[in-house]
Amino acid sequence: MTASNSLLSVLVLHGPNLNLLGRREPEVYGATTLDDINCALEQEGQLLQVSVTAFQSNHEGALVDAIHAAFGQHQGILINPGAYTHTSVALRDAIAGVAIPTVEVHLSNVYKRESFRHHSYIAPVAIGQISGFGAESYRLGLQALVHHLRQSGK
Ligand code: DQA
Repeated sequence: MTASNSLLSVLVLHGPNLNLLGRREPEVYGATTLDDINCALEQEGQLLQVSVTAFQSNHEGALVDAIHAAFGQHQGILINPGAYTHTSVALRDAIAGVAIPTVEVHLSNVYKRESFRHHSYIAPVAIGQISGFGAESYRLGLQALVHHLRQSGK
């Protein structure tokens, strides 16, 4: 298989506390579980003809390691950094370091919430951000990422 017809591969990263989706503050994050989200992304990946690999961690270093390991393996990253969005220079530097096109997503509209959620360390190193559409944010984010990768000939 040549590079031009090989399947695009996208790494989906879920940050801290997202393993609790479905039980966690359902009035904010809805009833959808992380498994539901990963299944929906898998299905969307099949429609878009991209391979999707998902990983969740509550540990900043594990997410940094996953971003480093994505180099040469995945052409794009879809990330919900959870609370690390608002705190993590390390995640931002990892994304900048591997220079893999990245889309940031959030279930909730972080700009309608507490002011500490209004700043993202990730946004300046991301292609773009989708926030506020619940689980649909991920599907929209995957579509946007794949569109970007195909437009830029990746
Ligand atoms: C979140 C928003 C963050 O502020 C929060 O810390 C999360 C989830 C979201 O998807 O809406 O853990 O990233």
